[in-house]
Amino acid sequence: MTTQRKIAGVMGWPIEHSLSPRLHGYWLKKYGIDGDYVMLPVPPDELGATLKSLPEKGFSGVNLTVPHKEAAMGFVNDIDIMAKNIGAINTVVVLGNGRLMGRNTDIYGFSENLKAAGFQATGGVATVFGAGGAARACVAALASMEFKEIRLVNRTRNRAEKLAADLNSDKIRVMDWDSYYSLENTTLLVNTTSLGMKGLPPLDVALDLLPKEAWVTDIVYTPLMTPLLKNAAARGNKVVDGLGMLLHQARPAFEAFFGVDPEVTPELRAHVLAALEGGR
Ligand code: ATR
Repeated sequence: MTTQRKIAGVMGWPIEHSLSPRLHGYWLKKYGIDGDYVMLPVPPDELGATLKSLPEKGFSGVNLTVPHKEAAMGFVNDIDIMAKNIGAINTVVVLGNGRLMGRNTDIYGFSENLKAAGFQATGGVATVFGAGGAARACVAALASMEFKEIRLVNRTRNRAEKLAADLNSDKIRVMDWDSYYSLENTTLLVNTTSLGMKGLPPLDVALDLLPKEAWVTDIVYTPLMTPLLKNAAARGNKVVDGLGMLLHQARPAFEAFFGVDPEVTPELRAHVLAALEGGR
């Protein structure tokens, strides 16, 4: 009996900087799977046709990155409830009957990264900066953890109001961007804005009201230690960098594509980090 070689990939435009092929490629080799994970440069006007052609091309599924996470929702047959709530999918799984299932594994990636570092919500307060696409997955993850309050702080306040309304969680409270008190009693501070990324200004927030026991995480991972994480670590806060979210979001996708639940290990992290530090 011959089994079909499994194939999956990542679609984006542009796509050449994606770390996903390196990540999935590492696991394919580690678990001795006869499969491939490829780079798929797909311009926005070809997204629908390319997604619809996946079953006939023998794909098990694909990951999606910028700018396809929202638009792809219009071209799949089913969407899981969490992805529907946040309005974005990052994974499309080709089901046995050829139907396309949209999922969002960023939600899992965000919470699993914190959990793996040892963080527990235990009735605390999360304060989130940003209300863009990335914030949606993070806030959905936080809403399903044991926080008593989630503060949403965004430069454009009505974008935060919209996120809160879409997620419909009574724990979410929108605060002004310049509010001095947003960090009071905070147990987890999250940056989901692009500020702090290489080439951009840092997230300029005064940490004086942030309790020393609070944890701080950033979804930016270029650089790994953003100015926010550096400042927080220097005053004694525990910090969790954003690379782990990338590694953990890939796990459920890999399992759906290749049938093995892979492990996130220090060796995998070093393997991906080498590409990042090499400037890829
Ligand atoms: P992503 O999908 O990466 O989240 P996005 O949807 O463009 O990208 O969102 C970027 C986030 O960073 C938003 O919260 C944005 O704030 P606005 O909604 O006010 O635009 C935030 N952001 C980007 N540049 C910023 C800046 N210079 N100051 C404050 N917030 C900024």
